[in-house]
Amino acid sequence: MAASNLVVGLDIGTTKICCLVAEPNGEGGVDIRGMGTAKSTGMHKGMVTNIERTVNSIHQAVDEAQRMAGCRIDSAYLGVAGGHVSSFNTSGMIAVEGKTISQRDITRVQDAALALSIPLDREVLHTITQEYKVDDQPGILDPPFGMKGVRLEVQVHVITGAINAVHNVINCAIQAGLEVNDIVLESVASAEAVLTPEERQLGVALLDFGGGTTDIAVYSGSRIRHSAVLAMGGNNLTGDLAQSMHISLDSAEKLKIFHGCCLPGLVPQEQFIEVPALGDTGPEQVQLSVMCGLLEDRVDEIMEFINSEFIRSGFDEQINGVVVTGGSSLLKGVPELSRQVLEKPVRRGMPGHIGGLTEIVRDPKYSTAVGLCLYSLRQEEGINLRASGYKGGKTLWDKLRDRLASFFRG
Ligand SMILES: Nc1ncnc2c1ncn2[C@@H]1O[C@H](COP(=O)(O)OP(=O)(O)OP(=O)(O)O)[C@@H](O)[C@H]1O
Ligand SMILES: [Mg+2]
Repeated sequence: MAASNLVVGLDIGTTKICCLVAEPNGEGGVDIRGMGTAKSTGMHKGMVTNIERTVNSIHQAVDEAQRMAGCRIDSAYLGVAGGHVSSFNTSGMIAVEGKTISQRDITRVQDAALALSIPLDREVLHTITQEYKVDDQPGILDPPFGMKGVRLEVQVHVITGAINAVHNVINCAIQAGLEVNDIVLESVASAEAVLTPEERQLGVALLDFGGGTTDIAVYSGSRIRHSAVLAMGGNNLTGDLAQSMHISLDSAEKLKIFHGCCLPGLVPQEQFIEVPALGDTGPEQVQLSVMCGLLEDRVDEIMEFINSEFIRSGFDEQINGVVVTGGSSLLKGVPELSRQVLEKPVRRGMPGHIGGLTEIVRDPKYSTAVGLCLYSLRQEEGINLRASGYKGGKTLWDKLRDRLASFFRG
């Protein structure tokens, strides 16, 4: 990298790959200095299905971003998602015998929380401290250095992914000539870009409604409480239109973007649109509200899944509002229909805390890429958001290689 203070976020999404070069603005935000995007053709539902195509798209996006920023990009923060990602909450407890709590005690209690057996085919992506408890005093957000107590407890949120899927994303970046600074769950990154501190404190769910996946992150008391990835997104909406109206995926995508709305009541009932039928039968006229009914069915289904996930997480009561971002949040009617199904206030989330190329980047499609840049700035704020691969002096790549080797050895 030409200037050492620049950070790079690389979002390897199902429909597009986006590389952002950003400069910290000194106030907790970033100024975007360069941006490159490329169509993603080697990914399916957030997972790599074709390495060569993905590497080529990364090359394209990175080349464009470095030309615009006038610097050389040799490392990046990577986003990871896909149905293979799962999460759980766990806790650890140690005795501190009435002494003043030190860094050593914090490390010991964290180790106690993470003394669990992670299957060999899974990799820990994040271990995020939620809160500490000293004796009977809960709700301590920062490490309780200097406090005295008999018993120290910590609660952590652990996010894991299938090792092969994570390896494939990292491998693509490496083959494209990049060093990987860290891998970050996409919803965690997007949350950095779109949620306000007040929302995280009061309790909110972030939904990144993308092309291949819908990523969920639940925050309350300023900490992440639950995360999940649903392997369904805007591509399902396009696929439904193509299948039901007997048209190509390209035509369905265009119709969805130009005329789509997932609340048929919001479009004029008498409006018809021209649909390019497959074969040589010529274009057909379709009632717009009928097409919107198809979109409504699928968005309703996705929101029902999300509702079940909120209930399953045990944090439903603490979710006071929902922020929906990602490219599919741009579909007309998404906030309104989500509000009906989830029975909570819903707003569309645009990436914030940015300057520079804001006209292009202030779009929900770029929330993850902006969030990846912001994430790098938050590393030192006391919240352990780092990928576990950095522990023990080993690089992320070394650790993944070790785990892969033992996985294949059986
Ligand atoms: N104006 C719009 N109206 C409706 N849908 C839209 C609009 N703009 C983009 N989309 C949809 O957004 C989706 C792409 O969103 P996004 O760029 O967030 O996905 P991604 O990051 O590539 O994929 P993922 O995060 O799922 O891996 C596509 O399905 C696209 O059709
Ligand atoms: Mg995405």
